[in-house]
Amino acid sequence: MQIDIRLADRLKKINPSSTLAITAKARKLKAEGHDVVSFAAGEPDFDTPDFIKNAAIEAIQAGFTKYTPSTGIPELKKAICEKLKKDNGLDYAPHQVVVSCGAKHSIFNALLVLVDRQEEVLIPSPYWVSYPEMVNLCQGIPRFIKTSPKNDFKVTVEDLEMQAGSKTKLLILNSPSNPTGCVYTLDELKAIARFCVEKKIFVLSDEIYEKIIFDGLKHFSIAGLGKDIYDLTVTVNGLSKSYSMTGWRIGYLAGPSDIAAAVSKLQDHSTSNPVSISQKAALAALSSSDDSTKKMLIEFQKRRDYIVSRFKEIEKIGFILPRGAFYIFCDISKTKLDSLAFASRLLDEELVAVIPGESFGRDDFIRISFAASLEQIQKGMDRIARWVKKI
Ligand SMILES: Cc1ncc(COP(=O)(O)O)c(C=O)c1O
Repeated sequence: MQIDIRLADRLKKINPSSTLAITAKARKLKAEGHDVVSFAAGEPDFDTPDFIKNAAIEAIQAGFTKYTPSTGIPELKKAICEKLKKDNGLDYAPHQVVVSCGAKHSIFNALLVLVDRQEEVLIPSPYWVSYPEMVNLCQGIPRFIKTSPKNDFKVTVEDLEMQAGSKTKLLILNSPSNPTGCVYTLDELKAIARFCVEKKIFVLSDEIYEKIIFDGLKHFSIAGLGKDIYDLTVTVNGLSKSYSMTGWRIGYLAGPSDIAAAVSKLQDHSTSNPVSISQKAALAALSSSDDSTKKMLIEFQKRRDYIVSRFKEIEKIGFILPRGAFYIFCDISKTKLDSLAFASRLLDEELVAVIPGESFGRDDFIRISFAASLEQIQKGMDRIARWVKKI
């Protein structure tokens, strides 16, 4: 029997990812034995530190393998509050915190409880691929704000003023940013906070790359800039990037009590608790004074410096100096290729995988991840430099 599967309307606007095609092809070539250099990774290439793994092993052996409270175990929520106070100067009580299955889940939860059908969400462009699709799933409207490479792709109040209207519910901020590596200064955040307070626009502050920040710059949390903006902000963070724990799926949000209570209700009836064992591992990570995050940062800084020095020598490709995260966003407009053609040809002709900027809202850019060893970066950059001369 032929069944006509009519999928829910909310899925109609969800776009397939063009990055998948490139990464799938890179994987296939690698499996066939080709010497592929991948600059596609969205996760640190370091292993999860042993003391974190050991905490998980102990949790399993102690039988900590059952349901937990759905918003997370009290000890972990307390440790998150302490972290938010110590690192970010933010005062949150445990009932304002919800632990979820990765920061991605926390972001989706926050959007689901805040954004109604047809309400608009301001998304500075270039953006992380999942933001607009999540807004679409909520049946809200992503309102992209074009930012300029001249301002390191950071959104300004003037940009916001042009796009904000009566239906605007929320602004998504991501500092340090994926894909641009930009980091907002305190003054820039203060101006954005003033604007959001005046217009009563909520802010979702995605701070997942907070610990990967270069040149001694400091990360600031917008929720810390006064009571009014605190009341409008949902702060999202997690352990994926800072502790190299992408597969463990632990992220969290902290926000006004009513929002946290709504997310808690949502999570009760959707996923329930994040993995009990991962929660114990996250607790060990947050409670420790281990310096593996700092060591990882030193490595990323070396790689950032190296990759920047190489791109300075490649005339046909421009770049935005990454101040945080582990990506460099490169301007390929002089090559006259669109980002998908650039990425496909580079993979076919030189076995180097990069992510087309089209996925992030800029078809004249590509994203290169330096979550790869210095040797791999060197090899990949040699190939890019050679290839760009040819095209
Ligand atoms: C900007 C940004 N936010 C959130 C996430 C999601 O992180 P998690 O692995 O904790 O879900 C990512 C992961 O790539 C990201 O780049």
